[in-house]
Amino acid sequence: MLSLQHISKYYQVGGNKNFVVNDISLDVDEGEFVSIMGPSGSGKSTLLNIIGMLDEPNDGYHYFVNQPVHQLKEKQRAALYKQYIGFVFQAYHLIDELTVYENIETPLIYQDVKGSERKAMVADMLDRFQIVGKKDLFPAQLSGGQQQLVGIARALIAKPKLLLADEPTGNLNSKQGEEIMELFRKLNKEDGVTIIQVTHSEKNAEYGSRIINLLDGRVESSRKF
Ligand SMILES: Nc1ncnc2c1ncn2[C@@H]1O[C@H](COP(=O)(O)OP(=O)(O)OP(=O)(O)O)[C@@H](O)[C@H]1O
Ligand SMILES: [Mg+2]
Repeated sequence: MLSLQHISKYYQVGGNKNFVVNDISLDVDEGEFVSIMGPSGSGKSTLLNIIGMLDEPNDGYHYFVNQPVHQLKEKQRAALYKQYIGFVFQAYHLIDELTVYENIETPLIYQDVKGSERKAMVADMLDRFQIVGKKDLFPAQLSGGQQQLVGIARALIAKPKLLLADEPTGNLNSKQGEEIMELFRKLNKEDGVTIIQVTHSEKNAEYGSRIINLLDGRVESSRKF
């Protein structure tokens, strides 16, 4: 489904290249559930953003669903993203001016799902995440954990083939976090959704079938179950 070959991302600091992702090669098959771990600043979010085509590497080859992403134009990348990817952001990235309901609905509008169907799908998500009572509130009126749930609902609503999740349970209590991990497991096992998550939690990482450890922008180690 996904192949990164010698991907690097650096920032110029003075005359030096400061590598955040340093020559990473990674293949992910359809149906895998991969966990990315590593200390703060090791490049996890940058790598996930590159995989999600939201950030551009300086070097390397990137293939996604057999398309050479490194050769595509911005517009083509955006189209691929909308068609295949659901993204749970570390910092939520909800749209401040939209209500909870509207935030969750947005990906369906991109996919041209018609109004009545959208309504039913959003209602189902609100219900599933137990946030029906919050649907008319704006993100600023929610707790961090509630915003995170809205972010997860938005990532899942358009039934992505690839789910990218950056610390999806970072602001949830342990029970909520476990429920989200069980939901991810079910999506992966039953619906065949490919998942790549970033996590600081060993326990959450073990929901995956492969754990990749990053250190200073490189793959330090990886293990498969
Ligand atoms: N625009 C930028 N300019 C310079 N350096 C940047 C920029 N964006 C990110 N970095 C650096 O890239 C490094 C990796 O950042 P990244 O967000 O990928 O880390 P992370 O592993 O996700 O950390 P965390 O666990 O804290 O979320 C950091 O040292 C950060 O300072
Ligand atoms: Mg991060």
